[in-house]
Amino acid sequence: MRLLVTGGCGFIGSAVVRLAVTRGHHVTNLDALTYAGRPENVADVAGNPLYRFVRADICDRAALDRIIEETVPDAIMHLAAESHVDRSIDGPGDFIDTNITGTYNLLEAARAHWQRTGRPKSFRFHHISTDEVYGSLGSTGLFTEDTPYDPRSPYSASKAASDHLVRAWHHTYGLPVVLTNCSNNYGPYHFPEKLIPKVILNAMHDQPIPVYGRGENVRDWLYVEDHADALLLAVAKGEPGRSYNVGGHNERRNIDLVHTICDLMDEMQPRAAGPYRDLVDFVTDRPGHDARYAIDPDRITRELGWQPSVTVEAGLRRTVRWYLDNRDWWQPLLSLDGVGSRVGTRA
Ligand SMILES: NC(=O)c1ccc[n+]([C@@H]2O[C@H](COP(=O)([O-])OP(=O)(O)OC[C@H]3O[C@@H](n4cnc5c(N)ncnc54)[C@H](O)[C@@H]3O)[C@@H](O)[C@H]2O)c1
Repeated sequence: MRLLVTGGCGFIGSAVVRLAVTRGHHVTNLDALTYAGRPENVADVAGNPLYRFVRADICDRAALDRIIEETVPDAIMHLAAESHVDRSIDGPGDFIDTNITGTYNLLEAARAHWQRTGRPKSFRFHHISTDEVYGSLGSTGLFTEDTPYDPRSPYSASKAASDHLVRAWHHTYGLPVVLTNCSNNYGPYHFPEKLIPKVILNAMHDQPIPVYGRGENVRDWLYVEDHADALLLAVAKGEPGRSYNVGGHNERRNIDLVHTICDLMDEMQPRAAGPYRDLVDFVTDRPGHDARYAIDPDRITRELGWQPSVTVEAGLRRTVRWYLDNRDWWQPLLSLDGVGSRVGTRA
């Protein structure tokens, strides 16, 4: 396939780009290179003739029209977004601009291209979204594709808005769209402001490991390369107008996840002063912190045949090893604004 991937220098987008090129797809990576966009994330494929990078902002409609005309994509995989909940609390404006207005621009550019090329049925606009649009669960139950939307943070509200726009472009204009809503990802190249890399890097630096509240919030974790695999399946085989939830049945309380990482660190790089669990520091909770997310991935499993390939324990082991071995990647990021300090407390 000829793919236009937006946000392909980010955490998940780069996993999609690397996997797609490895599988022989032509990939144009459109990315504005915000603080979260790192060209190093796609260094493995940068010299591959199947791969091309274009720096552009999805809020720039003229640039989108030009790039789509040059690329003539069979599918657009839309991952470009502002993605950090804590940053959305302190500064929601960028989330509204990129996640809502940017998605609107991309939909319009995609629709113009699709109509100009004779409305091919095989074209796909694949919107990559999150389980956070569904809000927060109690101690039981799972998010299905029919769970009503109930977003609680500026981030999840902006993603919910963009999901609604994508569905509206399908129902109103017939644009062949597919949506996927995924649970929390983890793995290599995860930006160090997010929980798992933060825990690993603070442990490596013998710094307190901040855990919001009592660490009782539950998240459903998916290894990023399994997500990339699900996305390439959904863009190729997903039914137009349909949503697919993606998750690996890997629910963990934050505190249990942090303890697992500490135990892996004890094994791989023992700490002279005692176990890494001693570094855990319970801090003031995030405002409006959702209690529990858990995905029912039955539809994508049954209809498209997707299965995750690694358990959370195996994926975490790979991830901790990757951070221990890739200092050159994360070291320069630690001095960036908002990485070494707490954000998201200004509610
Ligand atoms: N990280 C998760 O756990 C998770 C889970 C489910 C869904 N998602 C969704 O997956 C997508 C990718 O998430 P991620 O974690 O890789 O995000 P990320 O923050 O790591 O990467 C986002 C990328 O988008 C680019 N970008 C931002 N604004 C842009 C703009 N205006 N124009 C062009 N490019 C822009 C950035 O430069 C960066 O490369 C997002 O849409 C997110 O909502 C993420």
